[in-house]
Amino acid sequence: MVEGVVNERVRIFDTTLRDGEQAPGISLDPLEKLEIAEQLARLGVDVIEAGFPVASQGDFEAVQAIARSVHGPVICGLSRTHLSDIERCYEAVRDAERHRIHVFISTSPTHLEHMLHLSEHQVVEEVRRAVGRARELVEDVEFSPQDATRTPLDFLYRVLQVAVDEGASTINIPDTVGFGIPWDFARMIESVREEVRGSYVISCHCHNDLGLATANSLAAVQAGARQVECCINGIGERAGNASLEEVVMGLRVRQDLFGGLTTGIDTRELARTSRLVSRLTGYPVQYNKAVVGRNAFAHESGIHQHGVLQDRSTYEVIDAASVGQEGAQIVLGKHSGRHAFRDALSRIGLHLEGDALNATFQRFKELADRKVELSEADLEAIVAEELGMTLTDRYELVAYAVEAATGREAQATATLLINGERVEATARGNGMVDALGRVFARATGVEARLTGFSVSSVTSGVDALGAVSVTIEAGGREVSGRGVSTDIVEASARALLNALNRLARARAKASNEETP
Ligand code: KIV
Ligand code: ZN
Repeated sequence: MVEGVVNERVRIFDTTLRDGEQAPGISLDPLEKLEIAEQLARLGVDVIEAGFPVASQGDFEAVQAIARSVHGPVICGLSRTHLSDIERCYEAVRDAERHRIHVFISTSPTHLEHMLHLSEHQVVEEVRRAVGRARELVEDVEFSPQDATRTPLDFLYRVLQVAVDEGASTINIPDTVGFGIPWDFARMIESVREEVRGSYVISCHCHNDLGLATANSLAAVQAGARQVECCINGIGERAGNASLEEVVMGLRVRQDLFGGLTTGIDTRELARTSRLVSRLTGYPVQYNKAVVGRNAFAHESGIHQHGVLQDRSTYEVIDAASVGQEGAQIVLGKHSGRHAFRDALSRIGLHLEGDALNATFQRFKELADRKVELSEADLEAIVAEELGMTLTDRYELVAYAVEAATGREAQATATLLINGERVEATARGNGMVDALGRVFARATGVEARLTGFSVSSVTSGVDALGAVSVTIEAGGREVSGRGVSTDIVEASARALLNALNRLARARAKASNEETP
């Protein structure tokens, strides 16, 4: 039990849309970001870090759109210490109900020497100026010394003290390279609390390079951190960030250790949020992922099954229903009409109108003709795919055919609509997916290399929808794509074309992007 703590809130700061989106191959469109942000608000996060507005016009617009329409959480934008970045960040978040500017600068010797080429004194002055300016613009300012865990403590305290003195009300300790070990990281949090004077919330931001991001975050809370920065499904740079669902359930399940600490998370929304993020990012959730993996509540051995049949607590520390992992309900069939479809979507929190509703309804009808009943998870998959497909797609699939037989190369033909013109192509390949990839390359003139391919079923049973995720690489840029269908060859064709459309959008986006 944390001593002296009574019902104190641990703020959940979600950075899926900023740090999570920095994972290789992830490139979310503004509408997809908005959809994730709305779901994060439903989940009950305290802060949404919606992006890095100065990185590109697309990032700026996405942060602004989220600030203007998502209610509940504080909407935060990340900013370097450059004054022009801070002003741009402010422009992006200013219309939110509540907004925050998150200022960061590196503080470790290696970053100062190899990246910033600044002395310690210059860094301190940058922090003074930047936090001061951010504080003139907004009340809520967070400051992060990047690579804090490899920063000499004296210098760390000095920088943090300046940030607090200039008005930062949250100070974050980023374990940028995932170097921390729980008890050592906890000591660091305690020492910052002892050394840095003033009134502030201390936050942790842990990366998972050693597989310790969740453990380090929980240790930080034990040591006094009252904000945890994390991502859905633990996505993020390299090995990812602390996983939101693990941190939240760790705090909740081990009330004996963290009693008195609460979060505002509606844990029943965890599985749905995880599925949404997985679909939109194209990052599959590993089967054995804690809390949200499909096997997180599956029992294989006879002894375990016997125990669970008697009482689930024998081998489960989490109630599956409490994290939204109970059996997917059947909601619609092929006789369901537009009203029933729209009602079912709004019951799961998806409010579509106009073209988006028409496109998803048409796709639902096509699938319902082939699959008798569709569940909530199926509906989510259809909506995610259709929203991804209808966003200003350059290439539209009119028809395709692919043939394969033992001992022969597969052959594919495809007709695409490109800028209103029909383009037909034929190609051979080493298997059906390869042949599809080649035929699309020929039709679009885009040479892309398939770097990742995975198939999973959305629900169970022989008529389950198959979801295909692909990543492709072209000219040093990696993007993902996804497709769903009852037929996995069709799902693959859709996923490949979705990736090519994303590539076209990513290329069209402003080229001078910066990421922290
Ligand atoms: O990992 C990191 O240091 C960051 C900062 C920008 C907070 O993401
Ligand atoms: Zn980070």
